[in-house]
Amino acid sequence: LARGVTAPDLTGRHVVVSAGGTREPLDPVRFLGNRSSGKQGYALARTAAARGARVTLVAANTALPDPAGVDVVPVGTAAELREAVLGAAADADAVVMAAAVADFRPAAYATGKIKKRDDQEPEPIVLVRNPDILAEISGDRVRPGQVIVGFAAETDDVLANGRAKLKRKGCDLLVVNEVGERKTFGSEENEAVVLGADGSETPVAHGPKEALAETVWDLVAERLG
Ligand code: CTP
Ligand code: CA
Repeated sequence: LARGVTAPDLTGRHVVVSAGGTREPLDPVRFLGNRSSGKQGYALARTAAARGARVTLVAANTALPDPAGVDVVPVGTAAELREAVLGAAADADAVVMAAAVADFRPAAYATGKIKKRDDQEPEPIVLVRNPDILAEISGDRVRPGQVIVGFAAETDDVLANGRAKLKRKGCDLLVVNEVGERKTFGSEENEAVVLGADGSETPVAHGPKEALAETVWDLVAERLG
């Protein structure tokens, strides 16, 4: 039977998806950011809703229309994303961290705009580390049986890097993308391997971000039992 004829397999489940990219403010007009569009996270939210889940979408600086029937929580910084994800994860069956979280933020925030001066070179920007949200929710496991999924964009030895990252983070599944010029960022399509903590490897052929999203929910649904 085609999906849509069968009962939606995520009915009665609450899933949390983070999407987009965090922005770390430097002064009132500037931030450190990244190129994540949020399209993969939105595809995950749409497909989960279509499969019957209650969906909380924590959206960091995205410019995409709210998916129908999804609870969207807008955030800016990594700290805000952490608060929103931790809060929603407390009663969630699955958490998918598709957001690009800034690893670092400026150590200091200038309350006034930083001005250039003719007689002086600019001050260097000192960075400090942001908390690792995926590692935190994977380590704490506040809800037994909860399935936690991470995303990783890698270059070079993509699979080996992915395996090491899966272990380091302690999540159940890690979606590994190979990035390079014109690959992934802002594009409508994606290609990935989904690594499981159980040793599984699920390749996903180049195709729409919805197709990758469906595979992720298939693997999550299997693990939810
Ligand atoms: N992530 C997170 N919190 C952070 C950084 C990353 O929750 N502070 C999550 C991302 O949402 C993603 C996963 O961790 O699901 C992997 O992100 P990635 O940047 O690939 O991993 P890092 O551990 O930051 O390693 P790297 O040094 O390669 O950037
Ligand atoms: Ca990172």
